[in-house]
Amino acid sequence: MINGIIYLFKRFSWFKRMNAKVTYELLAKHIPAQDWNFMNYGYNPTPADPASPLDPSTLQLYPTQMYHYLAIKAQIEGKNVLEVGSGRGGGARYIAEKLKPHHYIGMDLAQNAVDLANKNHSLPNLKFIQGSAECIPLADNSIDVVINVESCHAYGSVPKFLSEVKRVLKPGGHFLMVDFRNSQENMTILKNELRDTQMKLIQEENISSNVIQAIEAEDETKRKRIEEKIPKRWQKLFCDFAGVVGSRFHLTLKEGTRTYWRFHLQKAEA
Ligand SMILES: C[S@@+](CC[C@H](N)C(=O)[O-])C[C@H]1O[C@@H](n2cnc3c(N)ncnc32)[C@H](O)[C@@H]1O
Repeated sequence: MINGIIYLFKRFSWFKRMNAKVTYELLAKHIPAQDWNFMNYGYNPTPADPASPLDPSTLQLYPTQMYHYLAIKAQIEGKNVLEVGSGRGGGARYIAEKLKPHHYIGMDLAQNAVDLANKNHSLPNLKFIQGSAECIPLADNSIDVVINVESCHAYGSVPKFLSEVKRVLKPGGHFLMVDFRNSQENMTILKNELRDTQMKLIQEENISSNVIQAIEAEDETKRKRIEEKIPKRWQKLFCDFAGVVGSRFHLTLKEGTRTYWRFHLQKAEA
């Protein structure tokens, strides 16, 4: 019932903005667990991908791999990187530590998530700030790479976000993004919005099967962690939100009504 109402209201931009803000403020406030640093569904590499540098026992291995396999599409070392929708900061920390950008800014709409990330991930080249994807508080032409992981489905206006990405990127800068849409039609809308930016499309890839494999491989650990960390009365709702095996997210991705894509775009050189 509640899910049905939320689904209907998600047609309205104001509701999408409010829903994202309230949800992620509450999650960061009420579940401050220091060992829960990612909120994406994860990525299992294909044989064509380079070997994963991550230890298989890494906590939240698949969500970390989502960041790794996205970020290696562009040169990160020595660059100024902005992540929009950095959540609890685990991906930002991974990239800032392992891929050695000059400076990495993680930005999120939820102040509680920003505070949590600043508290849990302290590195000299990393900081987290509060801000909206639709009005990025940074100067024009100041960023080499913008990263965006499973976040823009929640924005009131994706075209506004994309015009902000293009504004803050330096000429020749890269935009790396992964996200899902709940229907083929909505994925086509996203692709058209990306095309309308007139940035150069370097690569687009349907990574739904990699995400399904990650969900299935991580299911047992994910359920155990939910049992340990989430109050009993919220566990079922949380299992749906976390996309366990058999959840609506997992099933629709398997059916193919929902798809999950990776995009790499580049702003024109001056
Ligand atoms: C599913 S979580 C993903 C977080 C992180 N990228 C990860 O993979 O762990 C989506 C994040 O996007 C953030 N978000 C939603 N709307 C936003 C907006 N308009 N501007 C900036 N961040 C936003 C949420 O607060 C949340 O932290």
